[in-house]
Amino acid sequence: MGYYEIFVVLLSLIVFCYFFHDKKGFPTNWPLLGMLPALMKNIHRFHNYFIEIMEKSHLTFLFKGPWFTNMHMLATIDPSNVHYVLSKNFGNYPKGPKFHEIFDVLGDGIFNTDNIVWQYHRKMAQSFLRHPKFHQFLVMKTWDKVENGLIPIFDHVSKHGIEIDLQDLFARFTFDTICTIIMDHDPKSLSVDLPSIPPSNALDNIEEVIFYRHVIPCYFWKFQRWLGVGKEKKYKKAWKTLDSFIYNSIDWKRQEMRKGNEVNPNFNLLASYLDDENENRKALIINSDEDKFLKDTILNFFIAGRDTTSATLSWFFYLLSKNPQVKSRIKKELDDINVKINQENFEQMNSKLIYLHGALCETLRLYPPVALQAKTPMKPDILPSGHHVNPNVQIIFDMYAMGRMKSIWGDDCNEFKPERWITERGKIKHEPSYKFLAFNAGPRTCLGKDMAFTQMKIVVASIIQNYVVEAIEEHCVVPDISIILHMKYGCKVRIHCSE
Ligand code: HEM
Repeated sequence: MGYYEIFVVLLSLIVFCYFFHDKKGFPTNWPLLGMLPALMKNIHRFHNYFIEIMEKSHLTFLFKGPWFTNMHMLATIDPSNVHYVLSKNFGNYPKGPKFHEIFDVLGDGIFNTDNIVWQYHRKMAQSFLRHPKFHQFLVMKTWDKVENGLIPIFDHVSKHGIEIDLQDLFARFTFDTICTIIMDHDPKSLSVDLPSIPPSNALDNIEEVIFYRHVIPCYFWKFQRWLGVGKEKKYKKAWKTLDSFIYNSIDWKRQEMRKGNEVNPNFNLLASYLDDENENRKALIINSDEDKFLKDTILNFFIAGRDTTSATLSWFFYLLSKNPQVKSRIKKELDDINVKINQENFEQMNSKLIYLHGALCETLRLYPPVALQAKTPMKPDILPSGHHVNPNVQIIFDMYAMGRMKSIWGDDCNEFKPERWITERGKIKHEPSYKFLAFNAGPRTCLGKDMAFTQMKIVVASIIQNYVVEAIEEHCVVPDISIILHMKYGCKVRIHCSE
């Protein structure tokens, strides 16, 4: 190629890039390519890009995909659309085949199923998580992990002035507790030597790849999967690691149950599934065997219980470091109780932690761990905003953008204000779930909300009452591109014992 041709190619590229967006700032809809070039150009700042588009488009915008992909996406954060899709017309918006394809790793677990299989999981999970004794058990296990896992590490790093990644610690914390609650097995990943835990790392890799599957044409990632290269290679390896960890745990649990050696016989989800005599269950296990069904069930709970809570805790401490006045008010609320919160008095004190509750809700509004949701209609439909949808259109809710819309949360939407969640009479203010979507809405609302708040309050109270967390100023904190809103480079801090 001569200089002239190179010049023409470069000039065309520059012109092409310049026209990624039209004059109003909306993505250009190119022949053949649709709006994919604009989306790919902004993929590294996905959430902020969404905020800009949502603000300009009055909360709903149709992204047109390339003509050969069937990849149209209706992005909406209009609360009336959210309410309609997740609650009012729930029956028309199952998880559906596209979701199953992208989230294939979840198999027949609760997140990935519809109809009777989902109903079965929901009933089992509900009766387990809402069992009167479960709460007591959860409080006991969470305190145990704080005292024997978190505190020894905090003491160690504060004594030696070591920088530590809080996000990593919290992920270890929730991984150990969720494994205990679900399988009666504590992998002890939260210990001073910070051992490498392959299944926990595998979960991170899987979440990252699933995000990419959402934004690149499915032909492309399927081709990569077929070739076994790139991100799909990483995905396959991570999936294998997780499977073997869970299958081994199922085998171990079965043996313990046979021997009658269980540590907590009544309180782990796996035992309640293994004990379930319901004959209908066999009929539900379609294209699968018993162990695969159990493995899928557990894997779904790992994803539900590990990352959501740990990501919220990380963003919470990050936000406190930027808002010292909030930190002081939380400390004052804890000091005013006049006793150190511990396992025995937690239940009694919990109801007094109103400001802390508000600060956690505020964290979830600004940094919802499940930041994106996708739904596909079974039949053509018209949303309350007037937009037409059909089975070729994926509806995307971006909760990160939703928490940052002036039209939804007011002019101070970007500020961290726990007061927003407290009524004039000092009680916790309720916001409808289709406005505060962090825990989802409608029949598929999160089943672990109470569990998450219990764990987060125990962790926060133990840290704030005993330590000072100092964020490393120069450390860069940005959301990662993943299906869970982690911090890309972690949350680096120094810990000091409080006087
Ligand atoms: C801050 C913490 C948490 C947040 C923000 C959160 C958020 C969510 C969201 C957005 C969904 C809907 C996902 C979807 O349908 O695609 C969901 C579902 C669910 N969550 Fe949570 N979650 C949290 C903690 C937990 C915990 C600790 C558990 C317990 C293990 C849990 C159990 C579940 C289950 C079982 C579902 C499935 C509900 C269904 O499909 O019927 N979650 N959660």
